[in-house]
Amino acid sequence: MYLISSHEMLKDAQRRGYAVPAFNIHNLETVEVVARTAAKLHSPVILAATPGTYRHAGVEYLVSICASAAHQYRIPLVLHLDHHEDEQDIHYKVEAGIHSAMIDVSHLPFEENVAKVQRVVTFCHRMGASVEAELGQLGGQEDDLIVDAANAHLTDPDKAAEFVARTGIDSLAVAIGTAHGLYKEEPRLDFDRLAAIRARVAVPLVLHGASGIPDRDVRRCIELGVCKVNVATELKIAFSDAMKAFLAAHPDASDPRQYLVPAMAAMEEVVAAKIRMCMSDGKL
Ligand code: 13P
Repeated sequence: MYLISSHEMLKDAQRRGYAVPAFNIHNLETVEVVARTAAKLHSPVILAATPGTYRHAGVEYLVSICASAAHQYRIPLVLHLDHHEDEQDIHYKVEAGIHSAMIDVSHLPFEENVAKVQRVVTFCHRMGASVEAELGQLGGQEDDLIVDAANAHLTDPDKAAEFVARTGIDSLAVAIGTAHGLYKEEPRLDFDRLAAIRARVAVPLVLHGASGIPDRDVRRCIELGVCKVNVATELKIAFSDAMKAFLAAHPDASDPRQYLVPAMAAMEEVVAAKIRMCMSDGKL
């Protein structure tokens, strides 16, 4: 089965008032957990992988594993390029069968960001792939991407309108107070800013850094136009904590088919909870 673009998935979410969860995956086991939970709950999902994940798992392996999961569970699946920056790398991966890309050059000055995103949109649309880009910058850490508090800044609604109009992107990642990774203090989201962006921008909006954000805040973001919600850290913690607990209780265990099972079960619980938070269950 073919790995689809996220364009139609996000448009459906926008029309019907829910969000598609985008879960960061790393290997066979994590793809399997997301695909089987999505199939069980009849939820559209996006499998997101950072450049570091493609380096770890291999592009061809990941494409094959995700396409096999779509085939096995008979569900549409998107494999997405999360936080990619290098244009040649995006070309290579789209040509390898991935139809959804985030070009993240939000750290560049506005005009350079626009020019780079325009080029990626031209290429990706010709290849049938959808494009997400970011304006403003989230703080925190996502793999190799580290943004300290001094460089994090929120999305300007007027600039967002210009950015979307000039680039032709399919979805816009917004910075409204979330951050990648764990929060030291309770995050305060700028809902007024989100509403102002929504009033000026028609494409689906994307919320990064959703780990640790209370469900009620994510739901409010969905009401205000967010159609894709990215979750990574909470999945990694559930997976690794369960594996550590199993190995502590069974110090002689050495078979991955044993110690990965509780890790996958713990991750599945988080995936199911986030699907329900996004109200995407039953939408397939
Ligand atoms: P968290 O790790 O904070 O969930 O963020 C995930 C993300 O935004 C991936 O792009």
